[in-house]
Amino acid sequence: MCGIVGYIGKKQATPILMEGLSKLEYRGYDSAGVAVHHGDSIKMVKAQGKLVNLAKRLEETPLSGTLGIGHTRWATHGAPSDINSHPHMSEDKMIAVVHNGIIENYLEIKEELEAKGYQFHSETDTETVALLLDYYYKRGNDFLESVFAVLERIEGAYALAILCKDDPDTLIAARKNCPLVIGQGEGENFIASDIPALLHHTRDVYFLDDHEVAVVKADSITIYNEQKQTVERDLFHVDWSVDAAEKGGYDHFMIKEINEQPKIVQELIAQRVDREKGEIRMDGISLTKADLEKIDRIYVVACGTAYHAGLYGKFLIEKICRIPVVADVASEFRYKDPILDEKTLVIVVSQSGETADTLEALRISKRHGARVLAIVNAVGSSIAREADDVFYILAGPEISVASTKAFTAQALSMALICSHIALMMGHMTKEEFMALCDEWEALPQKISHVLQKSLVEEGLAKKYKQSKNVFYIGRGVDYFVSMESSLKLKEIAYLHSEAYAAGELKHGPIAMIEDSTLVIALLTQEALFEKTLSNIKEVKARGAKVIAITQKGNTTAEGEVEDIIYIPQSSWMTAPLLANVTTQLFAYYVAKELGTDIDQPRNLAKSVTVE
Ligand code: M6R
Repeated sequence: MCGIVGYIGKKQATPILMEGLSKLEYRGYDSAGVAVHHGDSIKMVKAQGKLVNLAKRLEETPLSGTLGIGHTRWATHGAPSDINSHPHMSEDKMIAVVHNGIIENYLEIKEELEAKGYQFHSETDTETVALLLDYYYKRGNDFLESVFAVLERIEGAYALAILCKDDPDTLIAARKNCPLVIGQGEGENFIASDIPALLHHTRDVYFLDDHEVAVVKADSITIYNEQKQTVERDLFHVDWSVDAAEKGGYDHFMIKEINEQPKIVQELIAQRVDREKGEIRMDGISLTKADLEKIDRIYVVACGTAYHAGLYGKFLIEKICRIPVVADVASEFRYKDPILDEKTLVIVVSQSGETADTLEALRISKRHGARVLAIVNAVGSSIAREADDVFYILAGPEISVASTKAFTAQALSMALICSHIALMMGHMTKEEFMALCDEWEALPQKISHVLQKSLVEEGLAKKYKQSKNVFYIGRGVDYFVSMESSLKLKEIAYLHSEAYAAGELKHGPIAMIEDSTLVIALLTQEALFEKTLSNIKEVKARGAKVIAITQKGNTTAEGEVEDIIYIPQSSWMTAPLLANVTTQLFAYYVAKELGTDIDQPRNLAKSVTVE
């Protein structure tokens, strides 16, 4: 989605804005622009396409000044173009605005402003904000009063950064349902839609809450609530290293993040598992035994990859804790009038903690009295702040649009939470828990083993890169990993692929199987192995080429399939996570062979802050 940066201080703003925007490229965008206050005027340069186009324009038309705002746009209203790019300015360049989100009532305001003689040049909703600000400002309000007046009028979601020609010492930021952080420096301050854009300059940040406005000057930051009263906010220190948000010698963030998985799993287990006490450390989570006893239903709600991790969690909780769990995608959940009350636990899962649908699902759940536990990566994100309890997955910044390490950490967090519930509710003995701890502690080494053998997936990617249709099949937990694997191939390699419960194939999709259709079969579950093998035979009989992913030591599939990827021996609970690492690698290498933009796949955004 779109990205925002802003700077005020003593240094030249343009290089800082451009560097910040480059750190937000991973969010996905199709045009970019900057506006800089030049003492007595605001100057702006914009360009369709990647930041390199904007950089070229800035060489031709340099912008000097120590106060500025920048933006990367992911088109919603109007095609990607120079004119639709942000910033948007009022006719006499009094006001400049960058905006993330969607102004839902912009047409109504646009008509009103047109009737007053205002002319619009772009197709965007954002231009409405710039012109409406201009309108209020010219009616005698000061800069801040004008911003408040606009916020009272606009509906929808926004993170805004605004400049006013008459006020060369002030940058104003506002937010509702879109993330915005303010970075505190010495004699300089920053704003950004996401922390990586600030990390080179400061690690001390304030998170703006919904309906808040910040007046940012070089040596002060003042935050106002909706009632225009100043509010105190704790400074948050970001402890990621700058390196965590850099490629570190890898070709892409995606492969770097895939390779980080052993370390992340090790750290998550070390932080959360207390072997001595025989329990999970649920730091900061106040779900007591009494709370759990009250709960008669669990929902797991998320989007995309996080939803697949949620499906894995649903399977575990039902199998081990014997509590009914409904898993739903957040965009459906929010509109289906779900059955929610104080006996419901809603587990929302989100890497970014900013996904609009998931955030709304959380809010609906809370409104109905349900208890919300969030499984989140981004510390201080909206979902983390609004949930009743937060379980951080501790995966560090995930930059690649295709989520990999977050999936593994989310799934493992689900397993940890499931064990916590099972221990509290008497569904797991201490011995069973210790056996699980052994499994989890062995997982980093097993993932490393899969990574060391990545030449296998690289070779298979070369062999099958021309496939037109790919089916991922599996049963039980393997089915959920099939869904995640299929999503990964689609989003970065743009290959059509589908995931099917292996036993469902014959109820329709088998009609699609023809000579050379690629079927990737996950067979990590010993109890279901023979069943899935039968399904492999069915597709083989119809001409499919099959790659099987199975546990080392079981050679039954040899002779039945074209290729086999062996994963280290593991329990039913952890083996699918290893299989998922192999399919992450396969998707990565297919995309590399096909030359796609792996870290920023077309049409996609890292953090989906619109519906
Ligand atoms: O930040 P979230 O975990 O809430 O994001 C949810 C999905 O948008 C995300 O997982 C998406 O499906 C990824 N591109 C998958 O790789």
